[in-house]
Amino acid sequence: MPAKTMESLVNLCKRRGFIFQGSDIYGGLQGVYDYGPLGVELKNNLKAAWWRAMVYERDDIEGLDAAILTHKSVLKHSGHEATFSDPMVDCRKCKSRWRADQIKDGKCEKCGSSDLTEPRPFNLMFKTNVGPVTDGDHFAYLRPETAQGIFCNFKNVLDSTSPKIPFGIAQIGKSFRNEITPKNFIFRVREFEQMELEFFVQPGTDDEWHSKWVAARVNWWKAQGLESDNLQQYAQKKEELAHYAKATVDILYRFPHGMEELEGVSDRTDFDLGSHSKDPQELGLKAKVEENKDSVVKLTAPDPVTQKPLVPYVIEPSAGVDRGVLAVLTEAYTEEKLENGTERIVLKLKPHLSPIKVAVIPLARNKPEIVAKAKEIKDALLKLGIGRIYYESSGNIGKSYRRHDEVGTPLCVTVDFDTIGKGETPDQAGTVTIRDRDTMKQVRVHADKLAEHIAGFFRDAR
Ligand code: GAP
Repeated sequence: MPAKTMESLVNLCKRRGFIFQGSDIYGGLQGVYDYGPLGVELKNNLKAAWWRAMVYERDDIEGLDAAILTHKSVLKHSGHEATFSDPMVDCRKCKSRWRADQIKDGKCEKCGSSDLTEPRPFNLMFKTNVGPVTDGDHFAYLRPETAQGIFCNFKNVLDSTSPKIPFGIAQIGKSFRNEITPKNFIFRVREFEQMELEFFVQPGTDDEWHSKWVAARVNWWKAQGLESDNLQQYAQKKEELAHYAKATVDILYRFPHGMEELEGVSDRTDFDLGSHSKDPQELGLKAKVEENKDSVVKLTAPDPVTQKPLVPYVIEPSAGVDRGVLAVLTEAYTEEKLENGTERIVLKLKPHLSPIKVAVIPLARNKPEIVAKAKEIKDALLKLGIGRIYYESSGNIGKSYRRHDEVGTPLCVTVDFDTIGKGETPDQAGTVTIRDRDTMKQVRVHADKLAEHIAGFFRDAR
């Protein structure tokens, strides 16, 4: 079962340094969160797993890191200026503002009044002034999705890497939406990260590629530790589709607050490349948007059969990093009753996601030889390149194990008198103890064989 309550996750995240409220010391900024010492590791590990699956393990996808500040023409032609809005209602009595679809029984959630305005569209994009002139005209948008940076760089990537259709461009980065009612911890926030792939295919093959990408993405989430029972697929109805989509399948996860969207996989057709191309009608595109007089390029790639210029269709798996972090935390959070009657909280994260891979614990902190050996072991394990190795000297061994259970450290290595001395028995001389987070079983391994043992554990765990 996933974590029982959001409250238990929020508490753990604050107590152990995963996630904090943004601008906390000034009372907090709603819908904005900061990732702490362990949160940043977890988030980086999730992003690295996505990047590896998308860019390194495939030969048909290139990476990109486009700017956040986006020219207003980009978001005009993408359709976001006109349509990227939520219907909002105002309460005339207490002046609070709500998303129209979240109003229950026609009453304000805050004061209970029924004196509400008619729903009006509220554009979700943040604007910011660019340069010294503040006349309201010199502004750019903070991008509401990373995707537009990919479409705008389509020709640059094509010209510099010469891929053949089908191929993709992957990007991870921040997006911003002025959500009317941010809520459910990091589930719906105003500043968040997306992991987006735009995969360009020949028109006519898009339905097949759409299905393939839905399956690939569900499998990837399972490899991050999410159980099949907690994942569902939902094909959006026609009236629910975004302005650019022909079809969208949402991948839903059983979050503590309910079954909700973790990722969307859309068939965006030629909508975006067409919208950003100079003279879209000349390219034989349906006039889905007004003719583009601002753009200076035609965003085409050679048709793999005829070699004529073609505006490909695009399949877009778009995942939220923050929602991903929330999902893997939800799945991993476990409260266990132990045989001795005590309880423990343990984060059963997949080892490749764990913020700390190995904690090295000197049993006696006042013994210079033990401390030196523990530090030597930490340095040796760091060279494996598996991630953060933590020298743990904060308390007694029981407390150290408890803390590392709670933050999901898969292995604890304890350096004791046997490690530096003759050992209780000759075969214990020079050995360390390795404790497994999930089974709590301990084995003794010779310090010389430790790196090999640990490398094998992380290799097998993938
Ligand atoms: N480029 C397509 C796109 O942006 P979307 O369904 O609006 O589609 C994709 O967003 C993903 O981004 C969502 O599935 C979700 O994981 C994440 N996301 C969207 N809005 C978010 C928000 N306000 N807070 C956190 N994550 C969000």
